[in-house]
Amino acid sequence: MYPYNVKSLHLELTNKCQASCPMCARNYNGGREREYLQLTEITLDKFKQWFPRAFLSKLNNIYACGNYGDPIIAQDCLEIFEYIRSVNPTTRLAIHTNGSARSADWWRHLATAMGENSFVVFGIDGFKGQHELYRRGTDFDRIIENARAFMSAGGKARVDSLVFKHNENTVDDFEKFLLEQGFENINFKTTKRFYGSENFKVEKKNGDFDYYLEAATTDRWKQEFKINLDNLRSSSALKKIKESVSIQPECETLKQIYVDCFGNFLPCCWIGFDYVDQHSLDDVSSFAFIRNSMAEESKRLLDRIGIPNLNALDAEQILAKEDLWKELHEAWNSPDKPMACIKTCSTTLYDTLYTHTVKQQ
Ligand SMILES: C[S@@+](CC[C@H](N)C(=O)[O-])C[C@H]1O[C@@H](n2cnc3c(N)ncnc32)[C@H](O)[C@@H]1O
Repeated sequence: MYPYNVKSLHLELTNKCQASCPMCARNYNGGREREYLQLTEITLDKFKQWFPRAFLSKLNNIYACGNYGDPIIAQDCLEIFEYIRSVNPTTRLAIHTNGSARSADWWRHLATAMGENSFVVFGIDGFKGQHELYRRGTDFDRIIENARAFMSAGGKARVDSLVFKHNENTVDDFEKFLLEQGFENINFKTTKRFYGSENFKVEKKNGDFDYYLEAATTDRWKQEFKINLDNLRSSSALKKIKESVSIQPECETLKQIYVDCFGNFLPCCWIGFDYVDQHSLDDVSSFAFIRNSMAEESKRLLDRIGIPNLNALDAEQILAKEDLWKELHEAWNSPDKPMACIKTCSTTLYDTLYTHTVKQQ
């Protein structure tokens, strides 16, 4: 029951990033940055003010990932992790990053600061040449150099690797290469952001067409979208789906909350994404219709349940509110379940959950 006894914190340290991944919401198709993004970051001072020591001491998992940025771009990233470790010597710590910034020295220092029971997940999507097709603006050699510096200082590192058509046939060789570098674990995954389509247009900064990203095609990596998108457009079909779905709310099972770089205190990053996103897709495809209506529905829900902000109340004070997100909890068991929760925390659209389990390894 809400408010649950929070054990896990997902942080967005910043929405700044040097990369332009085509399917990331901080840019339009890998090109121009979204103009409504107000770039900001959590400084060490703000962090200390938002999260009292008593709150940090209770957590058993704290990780920095986020929707829009890269944690290592936040100026105080290392200092924040150093501080958390000084307050809570045992909590699990993790950072999800593209790894293509900071010096080798910084990475060695990070390994010491994070200490035991911690790891960094590097997003590396294939060999040099393949990787940059998705992680635009990053440098493969520099990432490997940084990861090696981190591991040489005792840091544990893993890789999350996205599989597309352009790298699906080299997965096994790539895994071998990464294990030889010292990474402990490689998690290959196919993106769910094609939504049943075979390709995704990538644009240059000036909006001109650049190339297509293509979805993996082999049975091993293909991601099946289970529902005909047009069915989601019909209100009667949607009603039926909503009635029958069983939600397995990850926020509740992991006892996790998400805090974005503006200090918004949210149940998860997925709904947090809808909260901040202001980009309404303007094409007439079924996907655009579903995406837009889902974002509107989430915004209405969030307005009703209320999203506290850490600039007004600290994390302890927010969790002491007895009615925190009560209506969200009720909505999971009602016939009218939120689409954002259906998409991420049920197996309605895809066979697998949109889970963060890798972040819990
Ligand atoms: C905005 S990134 C934030 C962290 C960091 N910038 C990174 O690349 O790991 C959020 C997460 O989305 C993942 N991601 C990026 N593009 C994706 C895609 N097309 N499908 C699935 N996950 C994706 C990243 O690997 C990362 O774990």
